[in-house]
Amino acid sequence: MQTHDIRERFTQHFVRAGHTPVPSASLILDDPTLLFVNAGMVPFKPYFLGQQTPPFESGTATSIQKCVRTLDIEEVGVTTRHNTFFQMAGNFSFGQYFKEGAITHAWTLLTNSVDDGGLGLEPERLWVTVYLDDDEAADIWENKIGVPAERIQRMGMEDNYWSMGIPGPCGPCSEIYYDRGPEYGAEGGPAADDNRYMEIWNLVFMEFERGPGDKKGNFDLVGELPQKNIDTGLGIERVACILQGVDNVYETDLLRPVIDAAEAVTGAQYGQGQEADVRFRVIADHSRTGMMLILDGVTPSNEGRGYILRRLLRRIIRSARLLGAQGATLERLMNSIMDSMTPSFPEIADNRERIVRVAVAEERAFLKTLESGTELFDRVASGAKESGTTLVDGSRAFELHDTYGFPIDLTLEMAREAGLEVDMDAFNAEMEAQRARAKADNKAKKHGHVDESIYRGWVDEHPTEFFGYTDLTGESTVIGLVAGGESVTSVQAGEQVEVILDATPMYAESGGQMGDRGRLVAGDTIVEIEDVQKVGKRVSLHKGTVVSGGLELGNKVTAEVDHAWRHGARQAHSATHLIHAALRQVLGPTAVQAGSLNRPGYLRFDFNYTDQLTEAQLAEIAAITNEAVDNDWAVNTTETSLEKARAMGAMALFGENYGDNVRVVEIGGPFSMELCGGTHVSSSAQIGPVAVLGESSVGSGARRIEAYSGLDAFRFYSKEAALVSGVASSLKAKSDEIPDRIAALTERLKAAEKEISQLRQAQLTNRTAELVGNAEQIGSFELVAVTLDGVGAKDLRSLASDIRGRMNDRKAVIVLVGKDGSKVPFVVAATHQAVSEGVKSGDLVGTFGSYVGGRGGGKPDMAQGSGSDAAGIDTGIAAVRDTLASL
Ligand code: ALA
Repeated sequence: MQTHDIRERFTQHFVRAGHTPVPSASLILDDPTLLFVNAGMVPFKPYFLGQQTPPFESGTATSIQKCVRTLDIEEVGVTTRHNTFFQMAGNFSFGQYFKEGAITHAWTLLTNSVDDGGLGLEPERLWVTVYLDDDEAADIWENKIGVPAERIQRMGMEDNYWSMGIPGPCGPCSEIYYDRGPEYGAEGGPAADDNRYMEIWNLVFMEFERGPGDKKGNFDLVGELPQKNIDTGLGIERVACILQGVDNVYETDLLRPVIDAAEAVTGAQYGQGQEADVRFRVIADHSRTGMMLILDGVTPSNEGRGYILRRLLRRIIRSARLLGAQGATLERLMNSIMDSMTPSFPEIADNRERIVRVAVAEERAFLKTLESGTELFDRVASGAKESGTTLVDGSRAFELHDTYGFPIDLTLEMAREAGLEVDMDAFNAEMEAQRARAKADNKAKKHGHVDESIYRGWVDEHPTEFFGYTDLTGESTVIGLVAGGESVTSVQAGEQVEVILDATPMYAESGGQMGDRGRLVAGDTIVEIEDVQKVGKRVSLHKGTVVSGGLELGNKVTAEVDHAWRHGARQAHSATHLIHAALRQVLGPTAVQAGSLNRPGYLRFDFNYTDQLTEAQLAEIAAITNEAVDNDWAVNTTETSLEKARAMGAMALFGENYGDNVRVVEIGGPFSMELCGGTHVSSSAQIGPVAVLGESSVGSGARRIEAYSGLDAFRFYSKEAALVSGVASSLKAKSDEIPDRIAALTERLKAAEKEISQLRQAQLTNRTAELVGNAEQIGSFELVAVTLDGVGAKDLRSLASDIRGRMNDRKAVIVLVGKDGSKVPFVVAATHQAVSEGVKSGDLVGTFGSYVGGRGGGKPDMAQGSGSDAAGIDTGIAAVRDTLASL
């Protein structure tokens, strides 16, 4: 049975039982505690906790959620069942059916015949586990379902108690296992062998809320959930492995074609040996995870999500090299996995080009350094072995990371393969030092690692109402004050404070638009607001300073947005939309927004695109943008459902999670339509001029355009114009003649420089005879030693060889010293005869160099060097004389 069919059967089974089907959420949800969505229940968390009412009429839902877990990455390909990406099929009950319902639903889907819409598994092969004291679940399995008591096992917290690993909903669970037969391991059920008995479905009976601790059961229960819930997760990949009768999850209909593609690009064969097979499976697994992450908007980088993606892609590349691949492989692998996955994830079709582009750019970057990095690693590894240690120097691991782009996990893996360890303390110390440097550079970063738990009460119960789309001033009540990281009841003049209001006209930073500036006023009290940030997406923190008076909880205040600030912010934000639209017109739809920032007068816009933009493309983008301004289009905002907005063709940011109700900002109809919560001008002409400053690269596969808007654009142009007229007047030319004039000047300069150098050369050549005539006799040698002001190394060399040519039949040594700014270049040359008498120019250069604070080297007949201390020239020459005398 194909994977896609298994998905359909799952969904239909639960839809028939009244569940609302919910599409998979993005892998990236805005939850700072989670890197990626790692379970089907994650998007439903607020419903379990009772923070929000589930919007499903029946109180039940079903989904097949994309999940990524990379904790077990070392297990990939080694065991038969570990995928870093998998699809978790689940059914959820919010206060509706509980244990008996969940168990019955699961059992019927698994064991109903294929003709009846089930999966047709033999009941005799199914085993179940329940939590130690969960007699209720055990009783249902045994007496309602009829599973024999010997196939029901009881396990502890670690196995049969589920939570997200962080504070939140949790409860005992019951797992269903499939017996794959004696060829896969020992008898005795899941308690004895979890390879033979493969876990396929976890039923969680969610009734409690847990506190801090780990995932393994070391945490306290902090209370009961408002209702009893069901959360289940069936591993689609594992069921496919069973139903397709293949040995492991890497050989199913979805991943096996990637193994075939890997055979084609590496020339190696799958199934010929365990070590190679593991590499093939790593390639298949990681290709899929990498592809799905890029699909949801992740791009490779050195931290967080981007790091995970980078690590996955680089592991694929290295595995393919080890299997024999020579050049690039990712394009072929990505195409193969996209073919497999598109039937279940049709959105891949529109993103194929972008996905390949991001992957290939990363591959290109890594291939550039892979070889030299691997060489460095091999040298370090053999050095370590030779000196009898098994420890790889941490600073070398850091160098591999920093210079060669080896994720530390890759270095660790390579070390392990070579029987070595990495000095992680030293590595971490280097990383820490680098981070400290970066932090010092990055003071602007808004809220570092603040403990956000103090805001929780407001986030849960008092979301801030925003009325600043229409009004810039309004009355509000102070409902929270935070000073020095603590919640307080009052603040005085001079204090820094975060004020929480019930409602505000001030825009909190989001969607790339910076927070508003403004003030809170109540009688004599004035609080200057310097920034507004959101916590938990719902509450606005007005950050500022109490300039006079004081503030207490419950005070009524007038909140005013700084008009000039907002005016500029609107211009910049609307300009960002125009630039985005212009960019897509010029570059095509694969140029996808990756991020943006706008503040009054200035904007920057990052997008995924691998090539540098040409001058002509930039000029076109600027022209389209300013024409759009000139069209004076009305800017319309509407609120609608996400579905309708998408149907209208509104552009949404990848990986961004929008609520069900979204705001669409439209400028010029189809010209620009984006999901956006920002503040905008009411017609495009109000933006004023937009000056595009240029574009640059911001990491692999991403580029950035920067621009000024409104009066700042005007000021920029005025400054440029003043500069141009300054240059024109000093050239005594009209401004449009400047380029030709400068080209002509440069030409003349070049010609003059050439002439000067020829003259100098001729002058020196003229002195050759004079210098030869001044040669002094030192023992049996003749020495020409002179200092020539203003002569550089190159001219010294050719002069020395001229002199030597003239003295060819004599035993002569030539020492020429130049002075070139603060440098003291020097050359020593010796004739053939002098050399045969034991003169070594290289040694003499060394002798002389030590007197002028320099070094040098060369051959016996010609050597040169450079120093910096002209005061030592005479004693240096004297030392050369002494050496010659002693020969
Ligand atoms: N939330 C449960 C799990 O992830 C179903 O296993």
